[in-house]
Amino acid sequence: MEKNVLILKGDLCYSSVLGEWDTIEQGYLVCKDGVIIGVYSKLPKRWNGCPVTDYGHALLIPGLVDLHMHAPQYTYRGLHMDLELLKWLEVNTFPAEAKYADLTYAKEAYRRFVNRMLASGTTRACVFASIHVPATEVLMDLLEKSGLCTMVGKVNMDRNAPVYYQEENARKSAGSTREWLEHCRNRYSNTQPILTPRFIPACSNELLEELQLIQEEYGIPVQSHLSENVEEIQWVKELCPEAEFYGDAYDRFGLFGRQAKTVMAHCVHSGEQELERIRENGVFLAHCPESNMNLSSGIAPVRRFLEMGIRTGLGSDVAGGASESIFTAMMHAIQASKLRWRLLEDSLRPLTASEVFYLATKGGGAFFGKVGSFEPGYELDVLVLDDSRIPAQEGLSIEQRMERFIYLHQEQDLVAKYVRGRKVYPSNKP
Ligand code: GUN
Ligand code: FE
Repeated sequence: MEKNVLILKGDLCYSSVLGEWDTIEQGYLVCKDGVIIGVYSKLPKRWNGCPVTDYGHALLIPGLVDLHMHAPQYTYRGLHMDLELLKWLEVNTFPAEAKYADLTYAKEAYRRFVNRMLASGTTRACVFASIHVPATEVLMDLLEKSGLCTMVGKVNMDRNAPVYYQEENARKSAGSTREWLEHCRNRYSNTQPILTPRFIPACSNELLEELQLIQEEYGIPVQSHLSENVEEIQWVKELCPEAEFYGDAYDRFGLFGRQAKTVMAHCVHSGEQELERIRENGVFLAHCPESNMNLSSGIAPVRRFLEMGIRTGLGSDVAGGASESIFTAMMHAIQASKLRWRLLEDSLRPLTASEVFYLATKGGGAFFGKVGSFEPGYELDVLVLDDSRIPAQEGLSIEQRMERFIYLHQEQDLVAKYVRGRKVYPSNKP
């Protein structure tokens, strides 16, 4: 019998091309060493005798990818949602994140956070931590133990924040970033550091210069925020008169896709030039519809991103988004696109269920490599979903069941979760 082969059976649903579903009723998903060999409606003879984990009529879909979220904000979800971004940061976010200077607080808060993430549909995530090195390492240790596959960033910020939550200067910020990256060396297999300048208003040019050097030295990816809020964009214009547009302020320091794999959250208000640069540089966009609604930021023109061929995925942006569920983000992405279409721009057709499903799986997954699909060669991340709780007439297709699940899912519907071929839920609670 072949070794390290894992065979799962159920109603398979994935999307290998934007806008299209791939489904197999009672299909077999075969993987070896954590990588998919193929999907089959009849199990090929070669694997006769191998054990099959049969999930009955459960839906088997690729794990969901959250391209943008803030772990220390998890405790503050759903608070101060009447504020816009800059005020919200001041009143809600900075005080919340400052608490992670206390390691006892950080350990308990991050333990809860990781437990919730484990029980969610997310298998991969790009995560902002706080400015604190020890707490960031606690978070990374817990995530590593959970089996989830994540990129985690110690946040850099050296200006325009309260003194109690800001690094003293660019040199110190860079110094603690190096210290953190040294600690990360050879320590993790599923957890990767990602360079995390908070956003341009909080990062001086000196700091961005330092981060460019660090990026080159360590060859790590980059995540940040971009063109989220009108006031923020105006502020960036004043702070960086030399930049052609907001994204250019990152690009001038090699932190915008050309040198480093980069993901930027939001782009609600990006102009043509900025979007063109994003496309040219291969920057990934994390569309975070719930956050954009909660903080009254606006509605991102996702259809335009897609038409331009910009690499796009979904983000929860916890705690701008109150929910960590990427199923919820899919629903909001559809709903927000309909409002934009109806109220602002009737040339941008609303997003469909299969399109947001693609964004949440293969779209965002591309940031992690061959992730987010059941095509051969992809890493095996799988969610097993029991939708029998949701009453239905008989005869729904897999596509219809999946569309309905986007709107009606509950956490208890997750039966099992696999990451890189390993079952991580329901067993790996830290
Ligand atoms: N821009 C800078 N910091 C943040 C943050 O924590 N959340 C969001 N949504 N936008 C930001
Ligand atoms: Fe954010």
